[in-house]
Amino acid sequence: MGDQMEKLIEIDEKNKVFHLHNDKISYLFEVEQGGYLGHLYFGTRVFDYHGQLHYPRVDRGFSGNLPGSLERTYSLDSLLQEYSGAGTGDYRTPALDLQNADGSFVARLTYQGYELLAGKPKLAGLPASYATESEAQTLAISLKDEVSDVEVTLFYTIFKELAIIARSVKVTNCGQEPLTLKKVASMQLDLLQQDLEVISLPGAHANERHMQREAVGQGRKVFESRRGSSSHQMNSFIALLDQHATEFAGNVYGFNLVYSGNHSFEVEKDQFEQTRVVVGINDYNFSWQLAPGATFQTPEVLLAFSDKGLNEMSHNYHELLRKHIVRGKFKAKERPILVNNWEATYFDFNEAKLRPIVDEAKALGIEMFVLDDGWFGKRDDDNTSLGDWQVYARKFPKGLKNFADYVHAQGLQFGIWLEPEMISYDSDLYRTHPEYLMQVPKRTPSPSRNQYILDLTQKEVRQNVLKQLSELLDQGFIDYVKWDMNRNISDVYAHALPANQQGEVYHRYILGLYEILEHLTTKYPDILWEGCSGGGGRFDTGFAYYMPQSWTSDNTDALARQTIQYGTSLVYPPSVFTAHVSAVPNHQTGRITPLATRGAVAMSAVFGYELDLTKLTAEEKAAVKKQVATYKQLRPLVQFGDFIRLKAPAKQNQCAWMFVAKDKNEALVFVFDRLASAQPTHTLTKLAGLTANKHYQEQTTKEIFTGSELMNLGFYDPLHRHDFTADMYHFKAIN
Ligand code: GLA
Repeated sequence: MGDQMEKLIEIDEKNKVFHLHNDKISYLFEVEQGGYLGHLYFGTRVFDYHGQLHYPRVDRGFSGNLPGSLERTYSLDSLLQEYSGAGTGDYRTPALDLQNADGSFVARLTYQGYELLAGKPKLAGLPASYATESEAQTLAISLKDEVSDVEVTLFYTIFKELAIIARSVKVTNCGQEPLTLKKVASMQLDLLQQDLEVISLPGAHANERHMQREAVGQGRKVFESRRGSSSHQMNSFIALLDQHATEFAGNVYGFNLVYSGNHSFEVEKDQFEQTRVVVGINDYNFSWQLAPGATFQTPEVLLAFSDKGLNEMSHNYHELLRKHIVRGKFKAKERPILVNNWEATYFDFNEAKLRPIVDEAKALGIEMFVLDDGWFGKRDDDNTSLGDWQVYARKFPKGLKNFADYVHAQGLQFGIWLEPEMISYDSDLYRTHPEYLMQVPKRTPSPSRNQYILDLTQKEVRQNVLKQLSELLDQGFIDYVKWDMNRNISDVYAHALPANQQGEVYHRYILGLYEILEHLTTKYPDILWEGCSGGGGRFDTGFAYYMPQSWTSDNTDALARQTIQYGTSLVYPPSVFTAHVSAVPNHQTGRITPLATRGAVAMSAVFGYELDLTKLTAEEKAAVKKQVATYKQLRPLVQFGDFIRLKAPAKQNQCAWMFVAKDKNEALVFVFDRLASAQPTHTLTKLAGLTANKHYQEQTTKEIFTGSELMNLGFYDPLHRHDFTADMYHFKAIN
């Protein structure tokens, strides 16, 4: 480990106490009696731990003791632990559940040793945060079940600058007999009694990531996806927080899984009101055969702590995603303003119809044209052609390149939509390779949007996807790809695997997908990739590792989007989520909102349009031109500044958020009013994140305020006699 790097991990060799810390946080655990790993603390930084947190010894009825021991006051059923095996008297949800060759379900995990690693090791085949040796240090703790000779290595990476610890687990079968993994969590966190609440991000298609907050009660509550993807229905994130914690105050623990498949976040409050959190791949329909010598690697969890409320947690996640997850050329690059033809034309287009939209985009200053679904095979509706990634000659008689050349000649970049994991019955791919479709023998698979899943666990299927996409992308005229996935997985089965390995299919699918994405993003580093799954159905940190941005939601309604983007921002920075201005009445909700409000909401993320620009009135075109120019100016602030939530849409008739430049010399504020009222309440907007004694000038009114005034006094929100308004304030520091 580099000498110049301050020590982030301290080890008390004598007492076997491990202390990971940086300026913000400390994480402490120790080797307890019997060799079990006892959890001590995760929270605000502490200096020089003196060993006072000895877990109290009490004889608890019906909580058993260590094998062969007469000591009745020490039980795994109550001890706060780092990573629990099953079947040995800890009746809470385990982190590891396996079946040994003799059929038993016992794993007794005891400490073997540790290793310090500079920086952060990669996770084989999986996306994960990355860091240099000067940015992070890693501690690997090895545990073992002596009887089956299973080794479990717990990895803890602490980042120097961030209040985040990345955790993952590797299980190795060092024995002579095969065993079956039934559950391998990426982490466990046991917390002593506290009145905690839990925040999750449930939703639905076109209604993703609504912040839900509830008390943690006794029993086990699971936030999960069983859909084969991280899902619209439950995002791969939860937070535990003090009952009274707010956006700006209180203790918060964040848990974000870097994975795009089935996940589960189990929160269990036990009989002594201690809370256990276990996070990882969902054990639903999961099992994994671990042959002698084989290793299983879990995905990684990003464990965050904030003692200053939710915004501080989000700030750490945003920094982590920007600096340690997103990769490649676009990591710190401003993203282009695009126009997408989906809501403009749906499937009803051809080159002649699209050209005027491109012309208009150019006139308005838009930087990229994205050709959405319907350009390939014989795709006139969503019943056909998935799997045939060749141009639809009826729509592009002179080929796709001809149209791309036209777009490029107007000075715009050219992007395209793909859905490579899918197959339609009505496709050449299915006609030639029906065995590529994922289905269970003798059963008719269930359609969803009349389409089916490719079995990405098969190498030949992955090669076919790569071959077709390479033929398209090798032509060199595509600057951007939107990677969609418009259904969830069902009829899970892999023909190439034996019966006892069918529990591996969900995870092997994701590993196959990651292999494809790694290959493509490496081979085509100049392409900007955007993730999508019917909007935000696979909106997760794992995907952000391959795709620097993702389509947030198919819902483009400016009001609905406030709630969606607010929830999304808990973990994900605005530079990774996209937002488009669309037509009114809105296609998802029928709501009519002002163009300015649609602009303000969309400008709060990676900005674009999704409507027929040629149908705008002259007045609207002028407004759009102005929005585009304004966004170009504000783009560095929005995409790379600090994002702060001010007013939550769920609680009030308002929603507000702001962006602050890293040097605190510039801030952009959006305040959205929802329904107008005849007798409105007076409201103030108070800012955050500014320098108290700096003077800031609002760029439209030219009024001057100190940061302390803006943060403590705030300013009155104007009253509007109109629904769905947006007020924008742009402050710059003056000398
Ligand atoms: C999904 C996407 C949309 C659009 C359609 C095309 O629903 O989220 O943006 O691309 O597919 O079929």
